[in-house]
Amino acid sequence: MARGKSKLTRRDFVRTAAAATAVASTLPRFTWGAAPDKPLKIGLIGCGGRGTGAAHNAMAADPNVKVVALADIAKDRLEACRKDLKDKRGVDIDEKMCFVGLDGYKKIMDTDVDYVILATPPYYRPEHFTAAIAAGKHVFVEKPVAVDPVGARKMFAAGEAAQKKNLCVVAGTQRRHQNGYIETIKRIRDGAIGDIVSAQCYWNGGQLWYRKREAGWSDMEWMHRDWVNWCWLSGDHIVEQHVHNIDIINWVLGTHPISVVSFGSRQRRVTGDQYDNFSSDFSYPGPRKDTPIHVHSMCRQISGCKNDVSERVVGQTGISNCNGWISTVGKIEHQGNDPYVQEHKDLIDAIRSGRPLNETQAVTESTLCAIMARTSAYTGKEVTWDEILNSEMQLSPPDYELTEENIRAHIPVPGKA
Ligand SMILES: NC(=O)c1ccc[n+]([C@@H]2O[C@H](COP(=O)([O-])OP(=O)(O)OC[C@H]3O[C@@H](n4cnc5c(N)ncnc54)[C@H](O)[C@@H]3O)[C@@H](O)[C@H]2O)c1
Repeated sequence: MARGKSKLTRRDFVRTAAAATAVASTLPRFTWGAAPDKPLKIGLIGCGGRGTGAAHNAMAADPNVKVVALADIAKDRLEACRKDLKDKRGVDIDEKMCFVGLDGYKKIMDTDVDYVILATPPYYRPEHFTAAIAAGKHVFVEKPVAVDPVGARKMFAAGEAAQKKNLCVVAGTQRRHQNGYIETIKRIRDGAIGDIVSAQCYWNGGQLWYRKREAGWSDMEWMHRDWVNWCWLSGDHIVEQHVHNIDIINWVLGTHPISVVSFGSRQRRVTGDQYDNFSSDFSYPGPRKDTPIHVHSMCRQISGCKNDVSERVVGQTGISNCNGWISTVGKIEHQGNDPYVQEHKDLIDAIRSGRPLNETQAVTESTLCAIMARTSAYTGKEVTWDEILNSEMQLSPPDYELTEENIRAHIPVPGKA
């Protein structure tokens, strides 16, 4: 899995990808490895909203797939998930397969589950993913997959280990399993709008949820229950949420940016230490070194403002929304599908058929792009891909008492941070 600047031109890339697809479609399908309907057991790590949703999605994807083990640091979250799976799907998870605590994930790795779903706050992802691959588990890994460059490098390394062990990895960047995006981006990469000259992507939405501290909660418990507002746990919202849209641009362009300059600030976030808006100018490799392709990205979590969650690419001969429409073609015909279920169908099919499927590199690159833009906004400096890829930056819990004054004093100030 080579990283860094591709030596291929855009045209070469498109041609190579098209040729690979054409060859693949002429090959016969046959079973290698597990039987086509082999029952598969799943262990869920992080039993919150998305983890519980992913557990349902996996079982909706295939009747011979069952969630048999749960792990969470919070007993109430684990029990709520366990009850939900029982009430809505009749799945009864044995008490002995429920693990509460920070080391719960290790106990799941010691069971005979075939694949694990990793759905904790992203800070824990590199550690959990590395342990899963070491234990020989296939993985459904929620995005984002790291909060800092050290974590991203761990992900790259474990992704390569997964490849060597023939383990399958699907990431929760579900647009990659959504027919509208798949069909449209294939056409764009086949040249439907010529060479790409610029692009935009947005996740401008309202304020996300937050939890005020409750009596009896330690600093750590509060931050974990309010994790989408704390940078060390979530990576900030550009990493936690906007990664989806950045991932689309990387997919269309077939590479990652070479540098970024970002703005950002905190206007109305109630808890935590994060910003609530970012605007980034990414530079991707262009036709010449001094003429990169500029991609503008915006994300905001502030209520009462103009919302927009979308992507757009501009080519020499047309434009597209990447999901069902290209100006030179019109509407792109595709069968609507549920990408949250499809991602598990694809993973299950790959596990059973032995077909290599490993999305670690793509999701880690997209995560690192968002980390790069966050770093640029926090510092006010341009940040290059090579700098962020090699950076020793590693986030950790705050080492100060969580008073309002202390938290405010630690929010990064561009030009000074
Ligand atoms: N793909 C998507 O569309 C999508 C949508 C929502 C969330 N997500 C991602 O899913 C992940 C989980 O988000 P969520 O909305 O379910 O959050 P959540 O707060 O509802 O759930 C997180 C759960 O993880 C548990 N947890 C925290 N630290 C843990 C640890 N060290 N070990 C075990 N459990 C731990 C928490 O107690 C909680 O139950 C995040 O990475 C988020 O970005 C993806």
